[in-house]
Amino acid sequence: MTVHFIGAGPGAADLLTLRGRDIIASCPVCLYAGSLVPEEILSHCPEGAKIVNTAPMDLDQIMAEIEAAHEAGQDVARLHSGDLSVWSAMGEQIRRLKQMGIPVSVTPGVPSFAAAAAALGTELTLPGLGQSVVLTRTPGRASSMPEGESLENFARTGATLAIHLSIGNLDKVIADLVPHYGADCPVAVVYRASWPDERIIRATLETLKDALDEDISRTALILVGPVLKGEGFDESCLYSREYDRRYRPQSADSPWSSWSHGDD
Ligand SMILES: C[S@@+](CC[C@H](N)C(=O)[O-])C[C@H]1O[C@@H](n2cnc3c(N)ncnc32)[C@H](O)[C@@H]1O
Repeated sequence: MTVHFIGAGPGAADLLTLRGRDIIASCPVCLYAGSLVPEEILSHCPEGAKIVNTAPMDLDQIMAEIEAAHEAGQDVARLHSGDLSVWSAMGEQIRRLKQMGIPVSVTPGVPSFAAAAAALGTELTLPGLGQSVVLTRTPGRASSMPEGESLENFARTGATLAIHLSIGNLDKVIADLVPHYGADCPVAVVYRASWPDERIIRATLETLKDALDEDISRTALILVGPVLKGEGFDESCLYSREYDRRYRPQSADSPWSSWSHGDD
């Protein structure tokens, strides 16, 4: 018996990996985080599967469900939104499962920051404008931030910020970022990226507050940084005609001329 953690993607039911879909189809028990995992994904569960929405449950109750499946020898599909590597609460569950001697597997999913960037049609790293993306959040009611991980500290780098779980802290986000990025820095808020009711608000740090409807109060990502201008960046070397590279040696003297895939 194994507990299979599966990233269920950002919302659209077809943004689930084939591996995730097949594991769901093979598990007689499915536990899903109902606040963000779309119900359509549950259609992959086999007929007669036990399907449990864990949104109203605490960790002990979730573990009790898993323990019951373990005793019955039934594999569990454990679905969380987006990818499991960020803000999924997978860590604490795996820690408990290890203590209980229950094996786990992890299948990644499409994270919400990638779905938001896709909705914007934007690359988050553009030569000359930004080459790093910081996935972060601001402190919430239930979670403080480790010292050093303040928005001001990340803002000092000028990197592209993908700020999660923070749409309710907008005043503070703007106040922390303006001194570093400038009031005219472009911002995009993507609400429920890839869901049918997805919305995109583009503004600057100065105009964002007025541009945003009050009903956007959760499930939104705030993306900030010069890359959101979408212009004024350099072309990458990757496709430059002159750039000598492994897959496109520019002359017989190129160190790459004698390279073959077998050398890699
Ligand atoms: C608990 S975290 C889950 C993150 C998830 N594990 C991921 O990979 O994106 C929830 C936060 O992620 C962001 N989020 C999740 N799904 C989203 C979506 N479809 N569109 C925009 N933001 C989303 C929001 O900032 C939301 O407050």
